[in-house]
Amino acid sequence: MPYAPEHDEVPNPLRVGLRADTAPEPCVCVVFGASGDLAHRKLLPALYNLTLGAHLPAAFGVVGVSKTEMDGKAFIADMRDAVGKFSRTKPIREETWSDFADGMRYVAGSFDDPSTFTKLKSALDDLDKTRATRGNRLFYFATPPSTFGILVQQLEAAGLISDPNAPTFTRVVIEKPFGRDLTSARALNKLVLECLDERQIFRIDHYLGKETVQNLLTFRFANSIFEPIWNRKYVNHVQITAGEELGVELRGKYYEEAGIVRDMIQNHVLQLVTLTAMEPPVAFDADALRDEKIKVLRAIHPMDGPDMVRERVVLGQYTAGSLGGTDVPGYQTEPDIAKGSRTPTYVALKLMIDNWRWQGVPFYVRSGKRMPKRATEIAVHFDALPHGLFGAANTPNVLVIRVQPEEGIALRFAAKVPGERYRPRTVSMDFRYGTAFGNSSPEAYERLLLDAIRGDQSLFTRKDEVEAAWKLVDSVLKVTEAPDGGAPFSYPAGTWGPNEADRLLARDGRAWRRL
Ligand code: BG6
Repeated sequence: MPYAPEHDEVPNPLRVGLRADTAPEPCVCVVFGASGDLAHRKLLPALYNLTLGAHLPAAFGVVGVSKTEMDGKAFIADMRDAVGKFSRTKPIREETWSDFADGMRYVAGSFDDPSTFTKLKSALDDLDKTRATRGNRLFYFATPPSTFGILVQQLEAAGLISDPNAPTFTRVVIEKPFGRDLTSARALNKLVLECLDERQIFRIDHYLGKETVQNLLTFRFANSIFEPIWNRKYVNHVQITAGEELGVELRGKYYEEAGIVRDMIQNHVLQLVTLTAMEPPVAFDADALRDEKIKVLRAIHPMDGPDMVRERVVLGQYTAGSLGGTDVPGYQTEPDIAKGSRTPTYVALKLMIDNWRWQGVPFYVRSGKRMPKRATEIAVHFDALPHGLFGAANTPNVLVIRVQPEEGIALRFAAKVPGERYRPRTVSMDFRYGTAFGNSSPEAYERLLLDAIRGDQSLFTRKDEVEAAWKLVDSVLKVTEAPDGGAPFSYPAGTWGPNEADRLLARDGRAWRRL
């Protein structure tokens, strides 16, 4: 390959915004759960911003479906409020809104009732006529998991699912959680695959829509200098943190059923692990990418029984504490939480990946609610020098990929402190998205909705991937949720989890990065 000099004139890709490599076809996006939080906070603002950025075809419509009785006008007004509040671009641009709202319809009804789907069919037929949406449908299940099965069955019964090889498309986006363990995830896969083809199913994990998460692939596979050292020969260990300041808020009912391992590890955090650890895919397409990610999941050593879980897993639950000078309640006094609840709000895990690249390199991952600050990052710690020329100071290099906030990448290395003596100190080479590209990154849901409309499954989870993730998580939950699994350790809100999580690393002669 000849050496190609660097181009100064390469356009700034984020100023270009979301670029659709394949032009999206006309279609209708049907949002089930249209009166819910996700539709208000994320989905409608995302669809509006895609319209604003001219990423969607003119022939586009949105149908909201939920139990709440209201007419089309009230729905449009409600969605306008939501977009006004939650859109990343403000204020609403009237011309764009008016055209967007013209393509909006609402259907009120229960998901158990076939007449809801008859009404939906007429709304869709109407949009096909008035907006020329040509029979293409994207169904979005922004609803609790218990409804996924019935929704697919009702759509099929109403004749609303087209053949995967037909010229018109039917695609279904399914929100998390996809099951609550391996058995239920398998059952759900079986159920949806009775009515749909895998090519029509888009299991969403919104972490994959984040620019910084996608950038992991670019960073690793579009640069020549990191890949040769990205392995057990040079990497000492990896630390992945996904910390949130927020507590459970008003989601107590859901959270009591889920807990942090299902809520964050099974999906978001394991996505970060797989993208960090995977081999280069043979092509940049959905299946090649997902094939490599699944190999990582399969190579992660499952927790072989209670002894290994005790050694490699630490669970925690927050108690009352203080965050940013404000007192906050403990988990057990939050709404809808049972007294004496054993639900963990923090987890630290030591994962070992049994393959050629990573044998013997621990991946320490932690995630928690009510941490001192919101911080998601991947830190690759390189080996220490074999011999320190400059006395005792020998701080290993660390590469930190900041997923959020302050999105960017920093490389920590030693530099000479100015002066007569050779005294090294650790400094940082820092890339920041905000400075390099401006601050206009699209929201994760914009990217994911656009990909689903275009039919690109790269950033969605495949059947075998979701099952492999559950298999691993099940090996933890089987022990921790057993009657003799014990209670999680407590930690005061506003701290980085229980002391036992520090001991997990201290036993290996390591410590968590201070964030
Ligand atoms: C969701 C979890 O999937 O991800 C929430 O259910 C969590 O509990 C959220 O707060 C974190 O997402 P983000 O994008 O804020 O890191």
